[in-house]
Amino acid sequence: MSQPHQIIQVRNLAKTYPGGTEAVRGVSFEVREGEFFGFLGPNGAGKSTTINMLVNLVKRTSGSIVIDGMDLEHNGSEIYSRIGFAMQEIGLDETATAREMLQLHGRLYHMPTAKIDEQIAKLLKLVELEKVADRYASTYSGGMRRRLDLALSLIHEPRVLFLDEPTQGLDPHARQLIWNHLRDLNRQGMTIFLTTHFMDEAEQLCERIAIMDRGQIVTQGTVPELLAQHSAKNLEEVFLKTTGSTIAEEEVNFNAPDPYARRRR
Ligand SMILES: Nc1ncnc2c1ncn2[C@@H]1O[C@H](COP(=O)(O)OP(=O)(O)OP(=O)(O)O)[C@@H](O)[C@H]1O
Ligand SMILES: [Mg+2]
Repeated sequence: MSQPHQIIQVRNLAKTYPGGTEAVRGVSFEVREGEFFGFLGPNGAGKSTTINMLVNLVKRTSGSIVIDGMDLEHNGSEIYSRIGFAMQEIGLDETATAREMLQLHGRLYHMPTAKIDEQIAKLLKLVELEKVADRYASTYSGGMRRRLDLALSLIHEPRVLFLDEPTQGLDPHARQLIWNHLRDLNRQGMTIFLTTHFMDEAEQLCERIAIMDRGQIVTQGTVPELLAQHSAKNLEEVFLKTTGSTIAEEEVNFNAPDPYARRRR
């Protein structure tokens, strides 16, 4: 049997932000072509920093990223056409409509007009934004924005999709809609790399999961493997056993200038 194609290969990836925060401290992992891969971890663990490095939005400090056999450092633009991403912070053009933004995205990927129109019709239906497609983004609710952002990431039918908390702020109905759709895309062969704080989401969707804490991967495997390895009855228990909360630490270690210091005195 031939070896499965590792579409994402990450080696010793690290990021230290200006100011000295070591957000990612040497992570290595691989994602198989067609896999649904989950990336979990507490607030501040370094998930978004990692995913942002994978899509070239944040410059790595050291380590290597190979996507579809190409090093991201030297083949950024070629890789760009094969990946799609929807990040935690959504940046929409408030003065454009959903349809206009989708059209623009399609053109940026040099898609033929007929194909763009076909994709727009399909995607608007899929994320249930048909009725508001010609309204300005400034009038959209939080959930509508997230769904539009997902549609934007899919316009060029990428082979690998990176999603940073795609269902954050969505109501249960919208979450189901997105889950079903992501499952379909994955069945059709798309590799999906997803971060989430919803354990049920990870358990239902992801074939394999890595858990990150304080900039490092603390455990990885399929859900049954993780449960057995950590003698846990569910994924939440695995999460709680393998990670600590970084919230209290961040508050204590916050050494930036305190804007309220004078008022407090
Ligand atoms: N642009 C930045 N400049 C400096 N530090 C940053 C920057 N972005 C993130 N950090 C720091 O890097 C660390 C990791 O942050 P990151 O956003 O990657 O975490 P996360 O796992 O995505 O958390 P969350 O679950 O809250 O989204 C945190 O300590 C954060 O404060
Ligand atoms: Mg994040």
